[in-house]
Amino acid sequence: MRLFKRIRQAARCALQGFRYGGCSTARISYPSYGEILTGKRILITGGSSGIGLAIAKKCVECGADVLITGRNKDKLDAAVNEIGKQHCFSLTWDISQTDLTDKKLDECESLLGGDITTLVNNAGVPPSRFWGDVDEEEWDKIYTINLKGLFFLTQALTGRWKKQMVSDEYRKVINISSQGGFVGATYPYRMVKWDIRGLTEGLGKALVKERIIVNGIAPGVVKTSMQEFSVRQGDNLYTHQNPMGRVILPGEIAELAVFLINDASNAIVGQTIVCDGGYTLK
Ligand SMILES: NC(=O)c1ccc[n+]([C@@H]2O[C@H](COP(=O)([O-])OP(=O)(O)OC[C@H]3O[C@@H](n4cnc5c(N)ncnc54)[C@H](OP(=O)(O)O)[C@@H]3O)[C@@H](O)[C@H]2O)c1
Repeated sequence: MRLFKRIRQAARCALQGFRYGGCSTARISYPSYGEILTGKRILITGGSSGIGLAIAKKCVECGADVLITGRNKDKLDAAVNEIGKQHCFSLTWDISQTDLTDKKLDECESLLGGDITTLVNNAGVPPSRFWGDVDEEEWDKIYTINLKGLFFLTQALTGRWKKQMVSDEYRKVINISSQGGFVGATYPYRMVKWDIRGLTEGLGKALVKERIIVNGIAPGVVKTSMQEFSVRQGDNLYTHQNPMGRVILPGEIAELAVFLINDASNAIVGQTIVCDGGYTLK
């Protein structure tokens, strides 16, 4: 039986290798940390799919209450059903509508039953145009969703935190940048990821004295709908786009997020941690 399984797996790999030019599987462990995030109330923008959804799941597994946002209510409802309604809440919120930020933050606090303790700035859309083809529409879309929303939400929430915080706790912001924020940029998506990395460093330094710790994560090619080819490949994780030769799974980014949210990482300030299978190595 085992031999049959192996032969079948090898045949599938060979077929996928033929189709996609290579084949990779992954050896990953997802440790159980117990309830290390109990008492945390975490707002994750764009938590209805991909990386945000994986972070939401892991945070709930670690004892947190989580609120996920996104534009599509059906996607949000499906995510909440998947994670469980007891510790996961959702709010339809287009992050680019910055005039709604304060009202939406009130709603978040009410749904979570208290102050937000952690913000994961994850919402984003992929590029659809590159250098010579970039037009103003693409520029405005990427800058408005991927950067303006993140900036003003972080500004509003950390402003609230300064008034709310009474104990010696730390509050945290995790910004999702990209491997693209570490290599030359010729189009808005990548330029914004550089900006996010710069903002992480700037706010890291500016806010740590207020007991607010800001860090970031720079994922490489992650198997989400943003990397459509990787979803098409199914369980074949091959990519030629990094030295490791495989895509990264959303759960691997979630592991890093839990570490950064947890007090174990409190001495890490203003850093953007790269998780890219070696793509950015010189
Ligand atoms: N996948 C990768 O290879 C990769 C690599 C590096 C960095 N990243 C970054 O990781 C983050 C998550 O991407 P992903 O790969 O997980 O993609 P994804 O599966 O498409 O998730 C994107 C999430 O953002 C939400 N969103 C998009 N526009 C929004 C808006 N205007 N307001 C509120 N929510 C919005 C989406 O929900 P709705 O569509 O319903 O709004 C969805 O929940 C992004 O910032 C992306 O740039 C991804």
